Amino acid sequence: MKENEPPPQSENITWHRGSVDRASRAALYGHRGATIWLTGLSGSGKSTVSVALEAALLERGAHTAILDGDNIRHGLNRDLGFSPEDRAENIRRIGEVARLFCDAGVIALTAFISPARAERDRVRALHAEGDFIEVFVDCPLEVCEARDPKGLYKKARAGLIPEFTGISAPYEAPESPELVVNTHTQSLDEIVDLLLDGLKARGVLGAPSEG
Ligand code: ADX
Repeated sequence: MKENEPPPQSENITWHRGSVDRASRAALYGHRGATIWLTGLSGSGKSTVSVALEAALLERGAHTAILDGDNIRHGLNRDLGFSPEDRAENIRRIGEVARLFCDAGVIALTAFISPARAERDRVRALHAEGDFIEVFVDCPLEVCEARDPKGLYKKARAGLIPEFTGISAPYEAPESPELVVNTHTQSLDEIVDLLLDGLKARGVLGAPSEG
């Protein structure tokens, strides 16, 4: 699963296999592990969607974890800024963490701009086939900018934030994401339903027992 990644620095470490397999975890939890990778512009609604989806999953008894850009940058990734190199490292670390959750049978929901297609594809490659579900949280830049929930677009337009995604740094939309939602044209309820259906269709969640 890690063939494309560079080897560890030390030669003196070996991979130790666990004894609990995926099927046992899935039987225990009633769903399989997965990484739901939300990508989109700042202000597109990734965090809002992740929180709403998590609540809906918890209602169904699922085991979840949210990894959110702004939050993770207060802790694990507090040493990283927004240069292309730092963003790549941000996504690499989160990809590894998400995969650990996924391997532990948890549904990991990640909310990072993750603007570079290549970095998202690296995270995909870390995962087993079908475990990585890329969700494009689509929303026109003008709408994200009008929402400007943190006042950052205004600052970026004033030249106060360098390399701001969508303004002075690129965002590469996914070419073939598993799922696309549009926070400008769809309601949050519609989006959550669409994502739940997508997870059922991919066998992450079991078939609904009712309705
Ligand atoms: S990523 O590009 O490395 O994936 P991440 O999702 O962790 O970004 O963090 C994005 C959040 O950081 C934005 O929602 C915004 O609140 C804040 N932010 C601060 N500076 C920038 C910047 N230069 N570009 C984009 N977002 C920024």
